[in-house]
Amino acid sequence: MKILENVSLKKFNTFGINANARYFLEANTVFDIQNFLADKSFSPFRAVAGRLLILGGGSNILFTKNFDGVVLKNNIKGIELLREDAEHYYVKAGAGELWHQFVLHCIKNNYAGVENLSLIPGSIGAAPIQNIGAYGVEQKEVFLELEAINIKENKLVVFSKSDCRFDYRDSIFKQEAKGKFIITSVTFKLYKTPKLNTSYGAINREIEKMGDKEVSIASISRAVCNIRRSKLPDPEKIGNAGSFFKNPTIPSEQYQELMKRFPEVVAFPPSPSDNRAGAKVGSEARGEGWKLAAGWLIEQCGWKGKQVGNTGVHKDQALVLVNYGNAKGAEVFELSEKILQSVKEKFDVELEREVVVV
Ligand code: EPU
Repeated sequence: MKILENVSLKKFNTFGINANARYFLEANTVFDIQNFLADKSFSPFRAVAGRLLILGGGSNILFTKNFDGVVLKNNIKGIELLREDAEHYYVKAGAGELWHQFVLHCIKNNYAGVENLSLIPGSIGAAPIQNIGAYGVEQKEVFLELEAINIKENKLVVFSKSDCRFDYRDSIFKQEAKGKFIITSVTFKLYKTPKLNTSYGAINREIEKMGDKEVSIASISRAVCNIRRSKLPDPEKIGNAGSFFKNPTIPSEQYQELMKRFPEVVAFPPSPSDNRAGAKVGSEARGEGWKLAAGWLIEQCGWKGKQVGNTGVHKDQALVLVNYGNAKGAEVFELSEKILQSVKEKFDVELEREVVVV
């Protein structure tokens, strides 16, 4: 395992931002990571928060400057059927596997549960950190447990589902456990009999358009891929990190006020059965508030399709910021600040970034 110096991260982040890492290493096994953690010459980087960065697919990160520390690219591979019972398949995947490759593997083998999460960029290890979700399903619905190395103690530990404290685009790994663990594998509990979820209207419309007579996990997956390809820019062609902001949740009273001023506001009620706009779980399911479509708020502020220097807001989905080529991370960040301000001014709603800013 080689530790390199001054490595460009451009090809390791889907925004395509050119920032350098002071040190860079790729880990192919748990042993590689444990070896690195045992290496005393790098202790100073492990002791200070924010100087060791674990990179998966690099699809939810914005580098605003060079990284003065160690970037560890997690490349641990492998997908393994551990066991099965009458209703489930238990499948373990290495943290460095690409999420969509895993989804394709599941569909090929008829393991149901992740079809709605097709084509989400990023790695298996990153999926539980922000509890990825799309088209009415969240990763936590099929999550069983994960293995991670405790950085301080260099020991492998297991996190159960409740340990992870999943919420909408959130988990313990974005809170108390942030920067303290390196996820090495995730085990999922997938279904033998699919629970087909076409509640997200666009899926049904797409399946009809495709002319499929029967709905299956494969047809849902194809429909989701078609929808995503039609709305979201392909990072291979135009740098981006998916939704840049989260859909904000606001209290009912605030929502009523907002409705008076903007009757056409796109929002999803605090009901556990409602799963539109990535809502479904967490604060909303607990009845804490209404989830607003941040894309709508941003569009209403006139940002959709706008180009500002080398960066801009995507023309088909206002939640996505893009790099038109050679954008600096700081430029993208500045644009996101302006968007935050204008949404605050017009609607008195605070948006929160989903992307990790480094
Ligand atoms: N809308 C607009 N203008 C826009 C975008 C959206 O008015 O530019 C309104 C429309 O009314 C639309 C509604 O918002 O019907 C919902 O839009 P969409 O279905 O595109 O979903 P979203 O809430 O904008 C969330 C996730 C996406 C996920 C989709 C589908 C978040 C932050 N984003 O977006 O996730 O693919 O739902 O489930 O929750 C990601 O996290 O990177 C991501 C792409």
